[in-house]
Amino acid sequence: MPDLKRLLLATTNPGKVSEYTELLAGLRVIVTTLKEAGIRDIVEETGVTIEENAILKARTYSDLSGLLTIADDSGLEVDALGGEPGVRSARYAGASTAEARNQILLDKLNGIPPAQRTARFRCVIAVTGPGLAVETSEATCEGAIAKSPLGTNGFGYDPIFHIPKTGLRMAQLSSREKNLISHRGKAMAGARPLVEALL
Ligand code: IMP
Repeated sequence: MPDLKRLLLATTNPGKVSEYTELLAGLRVIVTTLKEAGIRDIVEETGVTIEENAILKARTYSDLSGLLTIADDSGLEVDALGGEPGVRSARYAGASTAEARNQILLDKLNGIPPAQRTARFRCVIAVTGPGLAVETSEATCEGAIAKSPLGTNGFGYDPIFHIPKTGLRMAQLSSREKNLISHRGKAMAGARPLVEALL
């Protein structure tokens, strides 16, 4: 059996870890999380775009670990709010829980009709390794902000994200169904050959 390379999955978000466990299946790598690699450093997300933050995280964590690394930065863009929460999705309006952030969004959109509640998830995956340039793969998933939360799967904004072609909230999909249509699933389809080229 040839030596398998270690791939650092540079996220501390348990929802992302669980989705990547499926998305990385079949790659000839041993996936290591930040926790497993003993890395406790938190990268300040100082970028003004999701892409900048993904690149920053991949570069920093690869340099810290010496490993082939993938990092994910993602967020929700609501058209009626000028693209908010966008790059600030994880810390929107200072709220400390996903439920609180969802409620803030629902309150801000109160009275806005369905046709104007369009939104999208955006994900950038950045791939790099020691001494290598960073390469990225970006994708979106189009939908709309529902009027109330529903569903218990997924994480973050999933309970309020309505997907017109399924008639369901993201949080009502299994992780397999979500990965087939999500921003992260589609970005990983583009990132997979980038990782394979480094093995
Ligand atoms: P970051 O990429 O760690 O900066 O944070 C991304 C934030 O965007 C998460 O904490 C969630 O609030 C939100 N987000 C990103 N992807 C998803 C998703 O697939 N479902 C729901 N919320 C998401």
